[in-house]
Amino acid sequence: MPTIRLAVLVVFLLACSLAAAAGPGGAAVATAHPLATTAAVRILRAGGNAFDAAVAASAALAVVEPGSSGLGGGGFWLLYLADTQRTVMVDGRERAPLAAAGDMYLDKSGKPLPRASLDGALAAGIPGEPAALVHVAHKYGRLPLARSLAPAIRLAREGFPVSEEYVGKAKFRLQVLRRHRRAAAIYLDDGALPEPGWMLRQPRLAQTLETLGREGRAGFYAGPVAAEMVRAVRAAGGIWRLEDLRRYRVLEREPVVFGYRGYTVTAAAPPSAGGIGLATMLNILEGYDLETLDKATRVHLTVEAMRRAYRDRQRYLGDPDFVAIPRARLTSEAYAAKLRAGIELHQATPSAALSDAPAPVGADTTHFSIIDAKGNRVAATLSINYPFGAGVVAGKTGVLLNDEMDDFAKQPGLANVYGLVGGQANTIEPGKRPLSSMTPTFVEGHGRVAILGTPGGSRIITMVLLGILEFTEGEGPTAWVTRPRYHHQYLPDVIQHEPSALAGVRERLRAMGHALRDVGRRYGDMQAIMWDRASGRLEAASDPRGIGSARVVHLHATAKPGE
Ligand code: GLY
Repeated sequence: MPTIRLAVLVVFLLACSLAAAAGPGGAAVATAHPLATTAAVRILRAGGNAFDAAVAASAALAVVEPGSSGLGGGGFWLLYLADTQRTVMVDGRERAPLAAAGDMYLDKSGKPLPRASLDGALAAGIPGEPAALVHVAHKYGRLPLARSLAPAIRLAREGFPVSEEYVGKAKFRLQVLRRHRRAAAIYLDDGALPEPGWMLRQPRLAQTLETLGREGRAGFYAGPVAAEMVRAVRAAGGIWRLEDLRRYRVLEREPVVFGYRGYTVTAAAPPSAGGIGLATMLNILEGYDLETLDKATRVHLTVEAMRRAYRDRQRYLGDPDFVAIPRARLTSEAYAAKLRAGIELHQATPSAALSDAPAPVGADTTHFSIIDAKGNRVAATLSINYPFGAGVVAGKTGVLLNDEMDDFAKQPGLANVYGLVGGQANTIEPGKRPLSSMTPTFVEGHGRVAILGTPGGSRIITMVLLGILEFTEGEGPTAWVTRPRYHHQYLPDVIQHEPSALAGVRERLRAMGHALRDVGRRYGDMQAIMWDRASGRLEAASDPRGIGSARVVHLHATAKPGE
C-alpha cells in the first residue's frame, strides 16, 4: 500500500538522519598544553559544548603558551554544528591597521627594513582572537563567556610553572623580549632566561580577560583596554588608531570542501592558503594509486603535488575581500588533472620550470581539536606569528602583540620569515588580512571522522596533507601525529625533511633530481582526534614533538579533584 510504503520510507530516512546526527557519547580534547586540555575538559564537564570548550582552550593557550597565540593575535576556528550538520569557519585573522601602506617595511630606496615586520609594535596587526572568542561563545556556546574564560583567568592570575619548551622559545626571542620593558618584566626572570618550573604570573592579562568576559567585544575593542593598547602601540612606534579596533570584525566564511577517495575534506578557506592547497594536492594525488607505489615514488609524487600547490599559493592567494581568487578552478579535478599531466613519474620538475624564486620555519602558532558528546567539533589554529610575536606588551593590558604583518608580501618576490615568497595578491593594504598557512581541518567518510591541524609556519599545510593521507589509509591519530614529515614549498626548490623522514630513499630522490635538506630536527605539534562511528570509539593524540595532552572523556564520570 503506497501510504504504508511512504511511512516506512519516512521512518527509514528519519532513522538515517538520526544515525548521522548522533554523537559519540563521550568527548575528546587534544591541545598543545596539558593546562589548556584541562581547561577545556573542565568546561565540558560543567555542561559546556565543544564551542564553549574551544573558548576555554583558546583563552588558556593564550595564557600558558604566550609564545604561540594570544589575545593580541588571531586564528581560524573551524566549527561543525551537529544539530544542523553545518560547517562554518570563524575568521578571527588579524587585519592590517588602516594607516598601513604597501611600502611601510621598505626604506626610501625600496629596500626592506630589516626585521621591521617582525620585531616591535609596527609589526602588529589588529587582533582578532578576542572578537572570535566572543562570537563563538555568544553564537554557538551554551555557557556564559565569563564562565568559559574562568580557567584561563585563574591560570593568568595564579601562574603556572613554565616548561622547557617555553624556555626554548624565550631563548630564541631573548633579544627582542629584553628590548621591551614590559615584555621582559613578564616573560623573563628578572631580565634573565627563566629555568623550567619558574612561575609565570600575568595579573594584568587576567584583568583584561575578566573585562572581556564581563563586557564582551566592547571590553577589548572600545573603552579603557582599547585606549591603553592604542596608546602603548603608538608610544612603541606603531600606527594603530582607536578606529582600527572599533572597526575590527570577525567573519564567518564558507570552508573549502572537496572529496578525496570517498572522504569529504573540510578545511580553512582564504585568507588561509590551507584549504585550497589541500584540495590542489589531494586532487593531484587522487590520480595515483599511492599505496601500491614504492616509498621513493610516493614521496616524489607527493612533493610534486606540494610544489604545484605552493606555486599557486604565491600566484593567486590573499585576502578574498581584496583580491579575486579563482577558487573554483584551483579546487577542481580538471585543474588537478592538468597539473598532474606535467608531473613525470621518476623525474623532479625544477621549480624554475614552473616559473617565477627562497626559508627557515618556526614552531610557533598552536592548534587544538575538540569533539563533544553530541558530535559538535572544533578544529582551531591560532597564532601571534613568530614566537612571542612582536615582543611588545601593550601597556597595562598585559596583551602581547602579534607580528602577523610579516605574513604579507612586503614586496612581491620578497620572502617572509618562513621563506614563503610573496605575490601581488598578498601585498599590504589598509584593513586587509594577511595570507595564512593555518589549516584547521575535518575529514569524514567510510564511517570515520578526523579532526586535525598543527602549527609550523609554511609547513602546516603539508603536515596536514601527510596526516590526511595516513587517515585515509586507515591509520589512527597516533600515526598521523607521529609520522616523520617532509615538505616542499615551491621555493626554495628543495625537499625539507625531518632527519628520519626519507630514510632509505634519499639516493633515489636525488637521482630523480630532487635537492634534499635535512632540517636537523623534528617539526610540528599536531593535535588530532578520530571518531569511528561504527564502533563508537574515540581516539585522541597529541604530537610527541610537543608537550601537549590528548584526552578522551566520559562525561558521566565524576570530575577528578582539582578539575
Ligand atoms: N602566522 C602563521 C600563519 O598564519 O601562517
